[in-house]
Amino acid sequence: MEVPADFNLPYALSDLTIKLFGVWILVELCHGLFILYKCWRTGRKLRHLPSLPPSLLGPLDEIGKRNDRHRLYTEWAQKYGPVMTYRVLNTHVVMVTDPVIAAEALRHKSLDKDLPKMFGNRAVDEFTGPNAHQTILTLPTDERWKAVRKAVATAFSTTNMRANFPGIRTACSQLIEVLAEMGPNKPVDMDNATCRESLDVIGMVGFGRDLGATRSLMDHDEPGQAIIATQAAQHEAELGLNDPLRRFKIWRRDVWAGKAATKRFHKVIARLLADIRQKRPAESTFAAHLLDIVDPRTGATLTDEFLQPEIALLFLAGFETTGHTASWTIYAISQNADVEAKVVDELASLGLLATIEQPQPRPIEWDDLSKLVYLNAVIKEAMRKYPAGGVASFRSPVKGAGDVVLGGGKVVIPQGAVIHTPIAAIQLSPAIWDEPERFNPDRWLQNDAEYVPGGAKLADGKVVKRFIPFGDGQRNCVGQTLARLNLTTAIAQLYGSFTFRLASEMGTPEEVKAAEAVNITLSCSKGMKMHVIPRVAPVKKSAAA
Ligand code: HEM
Repeated sequence: MEVPADFNLPYALSDLTIKLFGVWILVELCHGLFILYKCWRTGRKLRHLPSLPPSLLGPLDEIGKRNDRHRLYTEWAQKYGPVMTYRVLNTHVVMVTDPVIAAEALRHKSLDKDLPKMFGNRAVDEFTGPNAHQTILTLPTDERWKAVRKAVATAFSTTNMRANFPGIRTACSQLIEVLAEMGPNKPVDMDNATCRESLDVIGMVGFGRDLGATRSLMDHDEPGQAIIATQAAQHEAELGLNDPLRRFKIWRRDVWAGKAATKRFHKVIARLLADIRQKRPAESTFAAHLLDIVDPRTGATLTDEFLQPEIALLFLAGFETTGHTASWTIYAISQNADVEAKVVDELASLGLLATIEQPQPRPIEWDDLSKLVYLNAVIKEAMRKYPAGGVASFRSPVKGAGDVVLGGGKVVIPQGAVIHTPIAAIQLSPAIWDEPERFNPDRWLQNDAEYVPGGAKLADGKVVKRFIPFGDGQRNCVGQTLARLNLTTAIAQLYGSFTFRLASEMGTPEEVKAAEAVNITLSCSKGMKMHVIPRVAPVKKSAAA
């Protein structure tokens, strides 16, 4: 073929570039219009439901401004009713706080975790591993999720938990030693302290390794690498969840510092993985179960690339949730003298309280746990009022399943929409609880307190719960046995040796309430500064051993 004499290559290339750019703009425009059409179509199907006032971006601004998002959702539920909608950019969300419809949704096979990107899972996946692979928490309910869930659930069986009980007791005892050394005069951030204890429990029970997080409270964190790296990386994940555009703000120093913190955390977990591969921990640890997971895609055991994020996820899911719950429990007891008196009586009746006659309470045993009826009621009440996962859960209709009908036709979740069942708004709803804002452990001493009044049932005959701190359905919390075990053991041992007084710098209970903050989990933005007063001064090291 002959090239025409007047052919000008640079001109032809720039002409082609302009045309391609034009085509690209056209494609993007069509794509944008299609997204807008889908959003409009979904919105039409939800028109009959009460909704937040329309705005271009949705309530992003309000959600961004309020640290206490769990309270915001509770306020919306009270204003707009138990089924309402809001829109975040182009995604319609149906928020359900009716416990019957929420239970049906969380158990529905066609509602899953395959959520639009803006619902934050990427920040969690970036926290858990360098390749941002999905994990048991963020995967849709597929074959890989099933393999991981089965292994982790077996690791949390009662037999394994019983075998691991001494490890939990040791972690609590270390906390008691450290608090006794610190003394009552200087306030201690009990939230930080209980989070460290929870991290150590995961280290011991999960991996047969002492990560030294609690002990490092005393020696300025030098050996506390694991805790410092985990806390810093988790903080970065929380910032990423709250601001999906954060990753692009590369001109900001704190963004680079956050990326570096995440890398350090990845290294800590990679080292732990190498260590357990080299020296396999006891069969009762969850590490042993994780090492044996068979990847359904390859038929071989999970490679480090996929195992490392699963390990990191167990730290993320387990340590602040349990730690914050423990510190909210201690706070609630400190504000209710009558509750503390009953806790103390119960501990005394079992010989678990330090007294002048018995300055060293006997060590707590497995069989004591079920005898601590009142203490367990106190912990349940703390989990009702301060649910660590208070803004969860989100699900959306699986692709190809069509619109999902709930409540016998009362609610339709269209394809492309998201259903949101905020736990805090259900557990603080005056429609199903007497005096929901009152901390009243006695409510748990009555039969069937966990269930909705009137005993409404689901299609499978199960009575509907109104108490769901660990979520519901097949994606509920797989670590709840460990969380419960750790909470009862820790609170019993702590109250056996100490009483706690809120430090003046925390302000009034109203100020503590105003400082409630949800990032990934519900905590107090001021920490939980308390004077830790020994029951029989001083608590000797050997008392805690
Ligand atoms: C008081 C402590 C805890 C609370 C309140 C809590 C709460 C929750 C909630 C509400 C969910 C469901 C989230 C959803 O529906 O999207 C969940 C899931 C999960 N939790 Fe917990 N959790 C706690 C402790 C733990 C511990 C100690 C571990 C493990 C060490 C753990 C591991 C997990 C995992 C792996 C999932 C994902 C399960 C799945 O999707 O299959 N959690 N947790």
